[in-house]
Amino acid sequence: MKNILIINGSLGGRNGNTSVLIKDAQKYLGQHQANIDTIHLEESEDAIAGKLAWANGFIFTSGTYWDSWGSPMQKFLEQTTQYEASDLFLFKPASVMISMHSVGGKSILSRLQGVLNTIGIAIPPMSGLVYSLSTHLAMNSSDNSFNDDFWSLEDIEVIVHNLMTAVNKKHDYKSWPVDRKDPKRKWL
Ligand SMILES: Cc1cc2nc3c(=O)[nH]c(=O)nc-3n(C[C@H](O)[C@H](O)[C@H](O)COP(=O)(O)O)c2cc1C
Repeated sequence: MKNILIINGSLGGRNGNTSVLIKDAQKYLGQHQANIDTIHLEESEDAIAGKLAWANGFIFTSGTYWDSWGSPMQKFLEQTTQYEASDLFLFKPASVMISMHSVGGKSILSRLQGVLNTIGIAIPPMSGLVYSLSTHLAMNSSDNSFNDDFWSLEDIEVIVHNLMTAVNKKHDYKSWPVDRKDPKRKWL
């Protein structure tokens, strides 16, 4: 059995819009017999290192707030910089799910995947999605001929499948050296 840690950086926390995406992901992870733990960063970041160590893979989630991920996610990234390229992150696969009203989510998805990849996390193909209010409304319009081209809640099954495929796969990646001294130290 593999351990999947869901890290929710949204402002809405366990009751927000993003939490609906999380519930779908939990349902599909259950079909893969994964052990699941979920952290809503808005509430607490207790014992984060222990949870990161426990995980074999991650799902990172956030809403979109002025073109960026939530401040709880930013704080998480700042606080876990000390674990860059460590066993807590290294080569563990991650999916990313972003919610938004209409604009900015794809750039967040791509940037967050980029950051995660740089700290040592593996990003599987087709493992990220953005779900928007505008898509949600368009999906239910009388013209549904474009629906296949929208990310939908059903696509979360694919996201989870590709995450679990990567989690169960052997790999032979290498890490480059990382300066583990205080990342906040002055350099000028
Ligand atoms: C402060 C704030 C800023 C927002 N900025 C954007 C934005 O730039 N683009 C967008 O499409 N939606 C924006 N939204 C809408 C949220 O991204 C959307 O409702 C999202 O699903 C919220 O997730 P949550 O309920 O899990 O926090 C914003 C919402 C808030 C509260």
